[in-house]
Amino acid sequence: MVAKPGIAIVGPGNLGTALAVELRRGGFVIEAVIAHSPKSLRRARALAKRTGARVASNLLNVKAEVVWLCVPDSSIRSAARLLATQLEWKGRVALHSSGALTSDELDSLRKLGAGVASAHPFMTFVRGSQPTLARVPFAIEGDASAVRVARRMVRDLGGQAYPIPKADKAAYHAWGTFASPLLTALLATTEQAAAIAGVGRKAAVRRMMPILLQTLANYAAFGAPGAFSGPLVRGDAETVARHLRVLSDVPAAREVYLSLGRAALKYLPTKNRSALKRLLDKS
Ligand SMILES: NC(=O)c1ccc[n+]([C@@H]2O[C@H](COP(=O)([O-])OP(=O)(O)OC[C@H]3O[C@@H](n4cnc5c(N)ncnc54)[C@H](OP(=O)(O)O)[C@@H]3O)[C@@H](O)[C@H]2O)c1
Repeated sequence: MVAKPGIAIVGPGNLGTALAVELRRGGFVIEAVIAHSPKSLRRARALAKRTGARVASNLLNVKAEVVWLCVPDSSIRSAARLLATQLEWKGRVALHSSGALTSDELDSLRKLGAGVASAHPFMTFVRGSQPTLARVPFAIEGDASAVRVARRMVRDLGGQAYPIPKADKAAYHAWGTFASPLLTALLATTEQAAAIAGVGRKAAVRRMMPILLQTLANYAAFGAPGAFSGPLVRGDAETVARHLRVLSDVPAAREVYLSLGRAALKYLPTKNRSALKRLLDKS
């Protein structure tokens, strides 16, 4: 495959939508968007309109050289089995984008002669957002032929391809889960603390943005130790005790505070460590 391969996107969800748009922008032809239910049909139609693709319910008569499964992790294996009978797979490439699962989920297509790989973008895709894939790292593993194709596609999108051993995928995906979904859970938790300070959710979001953005900028510039400020780095155990008292009103947020406080003592520079440790451990 020297020219850019034609692509079929299976599953017009959050990843499928963003990926198809970026691929189209990168000069790839999106041959088809496959929707399996009336629920996703509307989204598939909108995506097809944006990318010049056609909408289909299966791969019959679809000429794509690369089929990119963008279905939930739990459906990859069954979707692949279903797609197996719909195409001549010899010489084709099938990809999925699960961070945790390996290319073995596509074994049913591999057995029919497809080259298969997993290609996971270290990026978050939610409804309504269209992140650029430029500079986004993709972790790729699988059959040599499919890895070659996936690497070239990632490069064409301006992303960065990295190899990943199968055995490392679960840990790698746990890392990714900290980097966005659990970070978002932390942000949702901060809103609970704002609420007991009498600040509503919308105002909390608005008022937090400057400190959040500066924290990320500091993290990028100085790393975690250099970006760390507040009562723990200063060793101010009395202030931490005060926080813990008021957070009793929101026990789940208090648990998060305690866990992150202990993580800070373990991984970050802090003063007055033994007093802080006693306080966090007994609470
Ligand atoms: N979202 C992210 O930030 C992100 C980041 C990196 C990797 N990923 C990976 O991307 C993949 C998709 O995740 P997502 O967040 O995009 O999920 P999603 O928004 O829930 O979209 C999944 C899409 O797949 C469709 N689908 C489900 N089962 C199908 C089947 N058997 N055949 C055809 N289509 C089917 C769904 O349609 P219905 O709604 O009609 O069922 C929906 O359109 C996952 O492997 C995930 O790990 C996601």
